[in-house]
Amino acid sequence: MSNKLKDLLIQAKDGDYALGHFNFSEVTALKAIIAACESLRSPVFVGTSEGEAGFLGHTRAVGLVAKWKDDLDLPIYLNADHHKTLESAKAAIDAGYDSVQIDEMALSFEENIKLSKQIVDYAKEKNPDISVEGGIGYIRGSSDLHKERIEIKPEDMTSPEEAVRFVKETGVDRLAIVIGNIHGISLKGNPKLNLERLKEIHEAVPGVPLTLHGGSGISDEDIAASLSLGMSNIHVNTELRVAFHDALVGTLKRDPDQTTPYKFLGPSLDAVRRVVEKKLRLFGAVDII
Ligand code: 13P
Repeated sequence: MSNKLKDLLIQAKDGDYALGHFNFSEVTALKAIIAACESLRSPVFVGTSEGEAGFLGHTRAVGLVAKWKDDLDLPIYLNADHHKTLESAKAAIDAGYDSVQIDEMALSFEENIKLSKQIVDYAKEKNPDISVEGGIGYIRGSSDLHKERIEIKPEDMTSPEEAVRFVKETGVDRLAIVIGNIHGISLKGNPKLNLERLKEIHEAVPGVPLTLHGGSGISDEDIAASLSLGMSNIHVNTELRVAFHDALVGTLKRDPDQTTPYKFLGPSLDAVRRVVEKKLRLFGAVDII
C-alpha cells in the first residue's frame, strides 16, 4: 500500500470508503484520535483550523504529529483545515503540513478560483507531495451546538458544472462540496444530504476524491450511502468537542477537588477515542494499513 496521501485518497475513492479527518487543538484529543487509528489500523487526517493552529502553533502541531507518526509507524497526515488567507496557508505549508484545505468558499466563484490557484501553485512549489483541497458551495454553521435549525439554500450547494471548471483551473487534488452538510450539530436535527446532487458531482469529476465537511450530526445512513459516490474524506469536529467537554464536566462534577490533569482528562480522552472509533467503522476505514 502506498503511503502517499494522494494515493491513499484515490484508493479510498475507488474502494468506497473514506479517510476520517478529526480536529484537535491540544494533545489529549490528538492522543485519543491516534490511539483509535492505531487500534483499528486506519490511515487518518488530523487537522487544525486557523483557530486551532493559532492555539497550538503550526510548527508545534507539525512536530507533535511527526513524532507520533514516526514512533508508531502510522500513516497520520496533518491538514491545515479551513485556511482562508494566503498568509495562513503559507504558514502551514512552510511549517511542513502534509495537506492544506483552501477555504475561499465565501468568495465569488471567480475569486475563489483565483486565490485557490495561487495557493495550489505555492504549495506544489514547496512540496510536490502535498495534497491540496479546494471547495465550492457555501457551508453554513460553525463547529458547535446550534439551538436553531439551519436551513440550506439551493444556491449553497455545489454545482457539478462549476466543479469541473474549478478542478481544471485550480489543479486541486481533492474537492470539498456542499450537498446539505453544515458545520456543527443542530439540536433540531441536521439537514439530510442530497445524495442525488452528490451523484451528479461525482459523475462530473469521477477522478477527484470528494471531501465532506460538517460530518457531525449527519445520519449514519446518509454517510454510508455517500461512500460509493466518491466521498473519500469526512471531517468531524463538533462530536469530538462535545464528547471531550461532556466527559470533563462530568468528571469535575464527580471529583471537584481533582487537580491532576492526567487524571481529570482521562475520561475525555476515552470519550473522544470512542467517537473516533465509531466514525472510522462507519467510514469503512478499518484494517486498511
Ligand atoms: P463538524 O464540526 O460539523 O463535525 O465539521 C467539522 C469540519 O468540517 C472540519 O473541517
